Amino acid sequence: MNQNANNRSRRDFLKIGAAAGLGAAAAAGLDLDAKERSSGSGGARSQFKAAPIPTVRVGFVGVGGMGSAHVQNYLTIEGVQVKAICDIRPAHAERSQKWVVEAGQPKPTLYANGPRDFERMCATEDLDLVMNATPWEWHVPVCLSAMKNGKHAVTEVPAAMSLEDCWALVETAEKTGRHCQMMENCCYDRIELMTLNLVRKGVLGEVIHAEAGYLHDLREVKFSKEGEGLWRRAWSQKLNGNLYPTHGLGPVAQCMNINRGDRFDLLVSLSSPTRGLHEYAVETFGADSPQAREKYLLGDVNTSLIMTKRGRTIILIHDTNLPRPYTRINLVQGTKGLAHKWPDRIYIEGRAAKPHQWDDFERFAAEFEHPLWKAIASKGEGRGHGGMDYIEDYRLIQSLRRGEPLDQDVYDAAAWSAIVGASCASVAGKGRPVAIPDFTRGLWEKNPPLGIIEA
Ligand SMILES: NC(=O)c1ccc[n+]([C@@H]2O[C@H](COP(=O)([O-])OP(=O)(O)OC[C@H]3O[C@@H](n4cnc5c(N)ncnc54)[C@H](O)[C@@H]3O)[C@@H](O)[C@H]2O)c1
Repeated sequence: MNQNANNRSRRDFLKIGAAAGLGAAAAAGLDLDAKERSSGSGGARSQFKAAPIPTVRVGFVGVGGMGSAHVQNYLTIEGVQVKAICDIRPAHAERSQKWVVEAGQPKPTLYANGPRDFERMCATEDLDLVMNATPWEWHVPVCLSAMKNGKHAVTEVPAAMSLEDCWALVETAEKTGRHCQMMENCCYDRIELMTLNLVRKGVLGEVIHAEAGYLHDLREVKFSKEGEGLWRRAWSQKLNGNLYPTHGLGPVAQCMNINRGDRFDLLVSLSSPTRGLHEYAVETFGADSPQAREKYLLGDVNTSLIMTKRGRTIILIHDTNLPRPYTRINLVQGTKGLAHKWPDRIYIEGRAAKPHQWDDFERFAAEFEHPLWKAIASKGEGRGHGGMDYIEDYRLIQSLRRGEPLDQDVYDAAAWSAIVGASCASVAGKGRPVAIPDFTRGLWEKNPPLGIIEA
């Protein structure tokens, strides 16, 4: 699509955004200013590949809970050298440095001189890849610094917390000719992979609807004096929408070929009242505690309804402040049946043991287990999140070493993360429709779907 069309689609978005009450969104801390900026990029790209990298030299930024799990995975994957580690907490950086040395690699250089020391690492180290597992506010600055210094960038989820920042990732990746991937590990979990395999084989028919989310009681985590407690609760004071959309959305977006035959068009979003964090603070720390005096903006349950360009629908929920068991729902519904996780169950018309009744997913596992899971899952056993993190790290390194397109590209990172900004804007406008930008600028119609990846 040409630049005029690009500008036009942005203007359309901004017009809808204005109608949706973006003034309130801006007051809520959103970065959705109506400035048009020229992309200055090398243009949208399809199936982007970089030259093969025989040994991938990695620098880590943020080696807390999730970053250190990636370090441990990378130390067992062939063709990786961990060359540099950056963290504002020297003890975290040193812990990962020790693991690298114990694994028999040269001692990586540490960067622990404050919150912008990643810039020195990106500017001075000879690296192929920067792996970013910092708090959300640092995802975009770290990725931009990496790419501008000639490194591929990958980031933990969500890639960006505003639509402007989604664009910044896309445009910088295009301009610098670097990869920028968001590490959505849930795309590599067993049932999600099997569901994608069922979809690719046409067993569920044409996919027309999905339901997904992140429903996880994080009250204890958000009030912890360690790890995410140091930064995640603060986002509940700043924004009201779906702050963590991609674990649920990524896998169903792959089943719907988002950016590869279809794309997100618009969403409407509403949030419930906010009660959970305050009640928890009163019960845990006392009514007069500083925590009990905090004010929250984030509604406890946020529900979004997304429509795609081809008219398909996705219900997406964010629910992290109330007592509840964990689920990401993961329901994918087609014209011939539907697959569901939590509990794992499936209904395929004509193949179900009994009409109108669910079958256990295991009944179809022998036939539809995804080849990637079959080949790699056992290597990830006992590792983070049941092995899916290992498969994710393995696939990234394998693709970089082969010089192949990544399973998730910068347009996926932007489109899946755009739900944060778009849902906040819709909530601020009392559920008005908000357009989700076409980050591919037309390429979604031609891009091929993600195939059934073999190991
Ligand atoms: N994919 C998943 O399943 C999953 C699970 C947990 C967390 N996450 C994501 O991983 C990221 C990190 O979460 P976490 O649970 O590891 O949090 P954490 O707080 O345990 O770790 C963050 C680390 O980043 C460091 N840090 C903070 N600011 C920094 C800066 N400016 N420069 C360098 N280091 C900095 C902290 O000292 C800490 O070591 C978040 O984006 C989160 O959403 C993803």
